[in-house]
Amino acid sequence: MILVTGAAGYIGAHAAKELASKGYHPVLLDNLVHGHREFVRWGAFVEGDLADTTLLHNIFKTYPIRAVMHFAGFAYVGESVTDPAKYYRNNVMNTLNLLEAMREAGVNKIIFSSTCATYGIPGEIPISEVHPQVPINPYGRGKLMVETVLRDFYAAYGMRHVVLRYFNAAGADPGGDLGEWHDPETHLIPLALDASMGRRPCLRIFGTDYRTPDGTCIRDYIHVSDLATAHVYALEYLISGGQCLALNLGNGQGFSVREIVAAVERVTGMGVPVEEAVRRPGDPAVLVGSAAKARQILGWQPQYVSIEEIISTAWSWHRKLWGR
Ligand SMILES: NC(=O)c1ccc[n+]([C@@H]2O[C@H](COP(=O)([O-])OP(=O)(O)OC[C@H]3O[C@@H](n4cnc5c(N)ncnc54)[C@H](O)[C@@H]3O)[C@@H](O)[C@H]2O)c1
Repeated sequence: MILVTGAAGYIGAHAAKELASKGYHPVLLDNLVHGHREFVRWGAFVEGDLADTTLLHNIFKTYPIRAVMHFAGFAYVGESVTDPAKYYRNNVMNTLNLLEAMREAGVNKIIFSSTCATYGIPGEIPISEVHPQVPINPYGRGKLMVETVLRDFYAAYGMRHVVLRYFNAAGADPGGDLGEWHDPETHLIPLALDASMGRRPCLRIFGTDYRTPDGTCIRDYIHVSDLATAHVYALEYLISGGQCLALNLGNGQGFSVREIVAAVERVTGMGVPVEEAVRRPGDPAVLVGSAAKARQILGWQPQYVSIEEIISTAWSWHRKLWGR
């Protein structure tokens, strides 16, 4: 069995579905703080918190867990700046609880959700895994701390890990069961879809004076089902004896905010009202990753390369969720 933490969240739920479709038996842990009970459908559900060390101990005693996929955490960069204690406690200390419970139970394989935010302001594009990691906010710093802890746990206890540094997760399960449903929502594509269907008055574009072709920020969007597939490949890599790895997961293509707005308009056939606003502090102009290493070592290949295709799956989900 595979323990999936944060399994009621956006990416964790997609990974749980993918695991089940490949014949694995996921055990799904989530405290439902940001997750959705409706997303917990592909394994045994344990409602609880990583802060509860007794619960963690009992999970490993109850289920024959072979490996862990650790998605649980908080992921609002802005909130991590205003309330860093909340982020270090959940994303770092609670991860340490999990790792200690694993160690006690003799479980020595983990796949960890890290982020391109660990790189900070990139010195070169595309960003490869050897790019210096100099995060510029507590969210990124906490994720980097966990990466460090994982390396030390391997050196001292032989716990093997694959660290997956995602770029911008986007899109939705093509089967229509799952999709992006954050509250509050901060991600560009669902916000643009909201604006196009009138669920919010407009989309705010933060910064139109970046040194990019159209002045807006450029990001790398990777379909959530491609992320889920990469997790299963990483799991199989660890099960077959693979050594510790850190891998970027992205599409290797950058799209500006204005390009995403135009693509959303093409997909929905509706206009997206926008309002231009000043830059947000700490937003790099361009974040595009190279996932060549994941392709080479895991044999992973993103299936969704067209941004319209990614947005189409998000749009189908968005309409289902918000009833139009
Ligand atoms: N969404 C992205 O674009 C993106 C990019 C890079 C990295 N990540 C990372 O991927 C992971 C998943 O992101 P997501 O977008 O699915 O977020 P999400 O908020 O949808 O999912 C996280 C889940 O973890 C649960 N959770 C949080 N703290 C918990 C705790 N202490 N105990 C039990 N459950 C807890 C929440 O209830 C939620 O269901 C996060 O660790 C995030 O930092 C996400």
